[in-house]
Amino acid sequence: MSRALYRKYRPSIFEDLLGQELTARILREAARQDKLAHAYLFAGPRGTGKTTTARLIAKIANCETRVADKKFSIKGEPCNKCRACTEIDEGRNLDVIEIDAASTRGIDDIRDLKENVRVAPASGRYKVFIIDEAHQLTKDAWNALLKTLEEPPAYVILILATTESDKVPATIVSRTQQFHFKHVPLETLVGKLSMIAKQEHIDVAPDALELVASSAEGSFRDAESLLGQLVTFGGGKITLKDVEQMVGKVGFDKLDAFAGMLLENNVAQALEALTSIYDGGYNVVQFTKDLIHYLRRAAVLCYNPEMKAFFRRELMADHVEKLEGHAKKFQDKHIALLKSLIAAHGQMRYSQFPIIPLEVAIIEGLK
Ligand SMILES: Nc1ncnc2c1ncn2[C@@H]1O[C@H](COP(=O)(O)OP(=O)(O)OP(=O)(O)O)[C@@H](O)[C@H]1O
Ligand SMILES: [Mg+2]
Ligand SMILES: [Zn+2]
Repeated sequence: MSRALYRKYRPSIFEDLLGQELTARILREAARQDKLAHAYLFAGPRGTGKTTTARLIAKIANCETRVADKKFSIKGEPCNKCRACTEIDEGRNLDVIEIDAASTRGIDDIRDLKENVRVAPASGRYKVFIIDEAHQLTKDAWNALLKTLEEPPAYVILILATTESDKVPATIVSRTQQFHFKHVPLETLVGKLSMIAKQEHIDVAPDALELVASSAEGSFRDAESLLGQLVTFGGGKITLKDVEQMVGKVGFDKLDAFAGMLLENNVAQALEALTSIYDGGYNVVQFTKDLIHYLRRAAVLCYNPEMKAFFRRELMADHVEKLEGHAKKFQDKHIALLKSLIAAHGQMRYSQFPIIPLEVAIIEGLK
C-alpha cells in the first residue's frame, strides 16, 4: 500500500463527510450561495474531519470549475478535477497555506504569516490559511491574528482548527464562525471501515472490525490507521484475535461474558476467566478499564433505561441489547464492586503484578 489509508480515503466532497451532517449542510449551503466567511473555527475531537473540512473549503474557494460553470457551482461541492483542486489535494497550491501551530510559534513565523496575509493570492480568488492545532499558538501569535481578523483583506479566509477550543482567546472566537465537530458514532466508523476493507480487498471479520473501530474512540484517523497496520500483519483473513493482540484489548463478547459472571456474583468462575485472559497475554490494566466502562454503563442503564440512546452511539446495536440484559442484573451491591475496580485500576498501573489488585477487587467487591 503506497499511501496511508486515511490519506487515500479522506473525503473529497461534503457528501462523504460522515457524522458531521449539520456542519456539512451549513457549509455546503454557504458554498452554493458563494457566501464563505472570512474566519472559521473548527473545534472538536481528533480525527473527526476538521482538517478535511478546512481543505474542502479551500477547494470550494478556489475551484476553477465552480467559477466557470454556474450549474456546477450550485452543488456546493468542489470538482476535485481542476488544477486548483488537485494542487490542494497534493498540498502544493500556493494560495492554501497550512500552518501547524505546534511548530510555528516563534515571532518570526508570525511575522511571516502577517506579511503573507498582505500579499494577494497567486492564482486563485482566495488565499486560505489553515492553522492546525491552533490552541498551541503563542500570545504574540494570537495578537497578530487578531489584527488580521479585525480587518481581513477581502481575499483572505482563515481557518483555525483545534481539539481544545477553550484555549482559544474569546476575542478570537467571537470573530469567527464556529463549527463543533462531534465524536462519531461507532456504527458510522464501522461503516466506513467496511467500505475501505471492501475496496482494498482486505478480508476482515465483522467483530474484528468492530474492535478496530471501538479502539479508535470516535476518531476516523485512528480507526483507518489501525486498519492499515492490520494489513501489514500479512495475508489471510484478519480475525478478532489478530485485532485483540494488536490493540491489547479484548473484544466485546469476552468483556460481556466476564461482566456477566460478576453480576451473577460468580467469583470462582470470574477468577478462572481472569487467569485465562492474563495467560492469553492480554493487558489486564486495559481490561480493567474496559470492564469499569462496561459496568458503569450497566449501572447507568439500570438506574435510567433512557440512557440507552447515548450508548447507541458508542456501541453496536446488538451490544447494547446484551448490555441491557446485564443492566437488569445490576444491584446496589455492585456499586461496591465498581468502586473497588476503580481503586484497583489506580494501583495496577504501578504494580509489578497487576493482576493481584484486580483479583482482590473482585473478591472484596462481591463480598
Ligand atoms: N467526518 C469524517 N468522515 C469520513 N472520514 C473522516 C471524517 N473525519 C475524518 N475522517 C478520516 O480521518 C482522516 C483524518 O481526518 P482529519 O485530518 O480531517 O481529522 P482532524 O479532525 O483534523 O483531526 P486532528 O484534530 O487530529 O487534526 C481523514 O483523512 C479521513 O480519512
Ligand atoms: Mg487536523
Ligand atoms: Zn475544482
